[in-house]
Amino acid sequence: MAEKYMTNDGKNKTMEKLKTTLEAYGKTYGANRMLPCKSCHFVTSCGLRFLDSMFSILHQLVDSGLTCKVPLTANPRPLDTRNYPFMERILGGFLYSRQRELENLLLRLGLIDPDAFTCTPYYIGNKPSYGDIIAWAESSAVIYANSVLGARTNRNSSIIEIFSGILGETPEFGLLLDENRKATWLVEVKTPSKPDPFILGSLIGKTVGEDVPYIVGLEKWELKEYELKDLGSAMASWGAVGLFHAGELTAEAREEGPRLIRDDHKHLVVDDAKLKKMEQEMTKGQTIEKPDLIVIGCPHLSREQIHSWVTKLEDRRFNVRTFMLAAPRIVSEIKNSKDYDRLKEAGVRLSSICPLMFTNIPTSRRLNIATTSGKLAYYSHAVFFREDTLIENFTVKR
Ligand code: F3S
Repeated sequence: MAEKYMTNDGKNKTMEKLKTTLEAYGKTYGANRMLPCKSCHFVTSCGLRFLDSMFSILHQLVDSGLTCKVPLTANPRPLDTRNYPFMERILGGFLYSRQRELENLLLRLGLIDPDAFTCTPYYIGNKPSYGDIIAWAESSAVIYANSVLGARTNRNSSIIEIFSGILGETPEFGLLLDENRKATWLVEVKTPSKPDPFILGSLIGKTVGEDVPYIVGLEKWELKEYELKDLGSAMASWGAVGLFHAGELTAEAREEGPRLIRDDHKHLVVDDAKLKKMEQEMTKGQTIEKPDLIVIGCPHLSREQIHSWVTKLEDRRFNVRTFMLAAPRIVSEIKNSKDYDRLKEAGVRLSSICPLMFTNIPTSRRLNIATTSGKLAYYSHAVFFREDTLIENFTVKR
């Protein structure tokens, strides 16, 4: 470590600064102490050319010899030059021109592997356990960690999460505290069939805002883990939910059940009519006759989820350029499995980007994009389709 980064008594100046910053940040939210932090997931994974202040901080951390004390992963990469259309490849390269610099910095700060870029860090080895205190910032990963895994994290701002990972401590407030993990809404799902997780999540998020919902009525369908992932991501985007409980399905609800519901809770009943209305809002009143692009996998897909798509597509083939997105490690595993041939036969390509960063490129607006993701539909011009309507409208028999 260079001398300029050391105090007279031999301490690392940057580490001291970082500690003071985190403590001050915590105090703003009423934190009285710091807690040991077990995992870090960094949200700003795009090397945007304009992010000078973030780069300056990351360089200072690296130059001071600091690294994360806990597993570090990062959100998906913005670019997939092999698969981008021509204009987006050129403009994307310009917009995200500091990507390599960012990846090198993150590697030096302790990224668990050079390909650890995904919004589903829990599928690639950065999977906290029940009760672990962690510092994540990506909203879909935060709600998954809190709800499905029963770990504890706030929806941190970018940089705060990596400071916590380096210090190995994070301030105790918000969703780290028992009292803030109690549900302030009881959501009763009263539909005759299993609702689309993205539509249900969007409706709940839009209704409860940043509160904590406790959902009942889903138990009978035994939702898959990846359906809970998608459900949560929609709540986190259409609202600002950081934690949900679902009877018999999520970590704390399995332990504590309805004791998690506060006496003064509000009430939401979900029926088919409300879901239909929500779906109309998500499709933005548009019908795309034939999209230029179909995007599936925001948040990134799990291996099991990709396999379920293989089964659903059976003898059908997309007649539109279609991408399924997953962590690089999951994509490699799929490429070494029988599912890969079946995906190719179904006209599906695999990639590991964040599609939202693709839609940030101004020329991408000329493309009609269809997606099964409630999150992507919320943040971009992509139009939402349920999985069954997507298959019905844009596949043909092989
Ligand atoms: Fe993940 Fe990007 Fe969607 S971070 S949740 S793929 S917007």
